[in-house]
Amino acid sequence: MPANLQVNVGGLLMKNPVTVGSGTFAYGQEYDRYFDVSRLGAVTTKSLSLKPRAGNKPPRLVETPSGMLNAIGLQNVGIDVYLREKAPWLRNKGCTIIGNIYGYSPEEYAELARRLEAEGAADAIEANLSCPNVHDARTARGCTLVAQDPQQVTAYTQAIRAATKLPLFIKLTPNVLDIAEPALAAEAAGADGIAIINTLLGMGIDPETRRPILSNIVGGLSGPAIRPVAVKMVWDVAKVVKIPIIGMGGICTAADALQFILAGATAVAVGSYSFRQPDASMKVIEGLAEYCERHSVANITELIGAMKV
Ligand SMILES: Cc1cc2nc3c(=O)[nH]c(=O)nc-3n(C[C@H](O)[C@H](O)[C@H](O)COP(=O)(O)O)c2cc1C
Repeated sequence: MPANLQVNVGGLLMKNPVTVGSGTFAYGQEYDRYFDVSRLGAVTTKSLSLKPRAGNKPPRLVETPSGMLNAIGLQNVGIDVYLREKAPWLRNKGCTIIGNIYGYSPEEYAELARRLEAEGAADAIEANLSCPNVHDARTARGCTLVAQDPQQVTAYTQAIRAATKLPLFIKLTPNVLDIAEPALAAEAAGADGIAIINTLLGMGIDPETRRPILSNIVGGLSGPAIRPVAVKMVWDVAKVVKIPIIGMGGICTAADALQFILAGATAVAVGSYSFRQPDASMKVIEGLAEYCERHSVANITELIGAMKV
């Protein structure tokens, strides 16, 4: 009998544990040429803001050894266009939707969550408190990301929690000393899940021109290069929180996804690798089913945090 791949992520039922990394899948339409995107456990949207954003100037995306650096700067269509054009398409396809949001204050996040819920345009909210690409790198220092400061994580999570009954996931940054601190703050403030990790801060310089390789100077590193860091952070968080984790960072194959699940993730997201292999997320789902069958696992939930030590 095929294994049961269904998971419950803080109240969000997913038919399998696989979603996509916000910002690597737009709003799903382009990928539907490669596979039926409703087969995903959920589609996670690009971060949505109240107003549309053009993002940073190019170059804003470069390849690095085993990964990529990006400084897209939250380019997105804005909540109005999402509600009018993107959400109906996803709904029509029958997709489960994780609406990822980004704002400049707790009130903006709350407003975005409220509108997504009121319009039935998301089944869960993922609050991106960890985008590294919206600050001026020439002057920024210290805690420039909300998710680097547990007190701010508390304030933002509480505001969004008060605005929506949808399952609420808080997306954290790996650019901290101890990832457990913001995770515990999010849990105590009412989050239903933790999404980790966003990108690691990085930069590169072209010695010939002596100029930064990204127009934003600093960007976020993603891809296979960050996978061991991400697996470790999932493990660190799983040890201290009771709410489920959506794990991501360099997942390319089912074997990669299994590392995250065994470390304690309930669900996983395929991010940058979809750029190289558009149907990678589908292959991960198939590979998880095959693994369960080969290892006589009836329910994939048996594998969550099941690393043997
Ligand atoms: C081009 C690009 C754009 C991204 N945009 C967003 C975003 O808008 N919101 C967000 O929460 N994360 C964003 N991310 C982070 C990813 O969702 C993911 O957390 C990170 O890339 C790690 O996963 P990966 O190594 O599989 O890509 C972006 C990543 C990339 C590469």
